[in-house]
Amino acid sequence: MSVHNATEDNNTERRSFLGVIAGLIGAGISAVLGVTIGRFAVSPAFSTGGADDAKGWTDIGPLAEIEEGKLVKKNVIVSQNAGWGQFNSQKAVWVIKKGDKVTIFTAVCPHLGCTVNAKAEEFICACHDSKWDVAGNSLGGPTPRGLDSLEHKIEGDVLKVRYQDFKQGITQKEVLS
Ligand code: FES
Repeated sequence: MSVHNATEDNNTERRSFLGVIAGLIGAGISAVLGVTIGRFAVSPAFSTGGADDAKGWTDIGPLAEIEEGKLVKKNVIVSQNAGWGQFNSQKAVWVIKKGDKVTIFTAVCPHLGCTVNAKAEEFICACHDSKWDVAGNSLGGPTPRGLDSLEHKIEGDVLKVRYQDFKQGITQKEVLS
């Protein structure tokens, strides 16, 4: 009898121990899901400066901080639709300010998508050695076209860009939908 009771006690303890473990695992899964879902639900509130507004305009920063005549690389946070929802990602753009004229290019190479960098007064892509002048015109290499310029506007003293991705490997500039 006492052996039977001891076995029952052991079973009861094992069941309650397993119950606690299952409860902890469930709580852990709920916490992870809660944080993930919560992040998507409130991410606009936590976005740092630079995240898209509803019309796709992203702040680059004060125009006065862009050095005159230089090739200035800036990172912007853009909001993109992945089908299952919006997510934010960081994109690089090149800004050139000459007097009143501002030009902005995406830093994505039109050949196969490597990052375009600047060297002296040229843009270069180290992947396959494409080159462009400061106006974005091709100077050689396998790039099928010039650099892709982006729409911009100045509001107050803030420079804003409308970031877009373009199809790679083709001669015409076509927005990637
Ligand atoms: S990806 Fe830039 S030259 Fe090929």
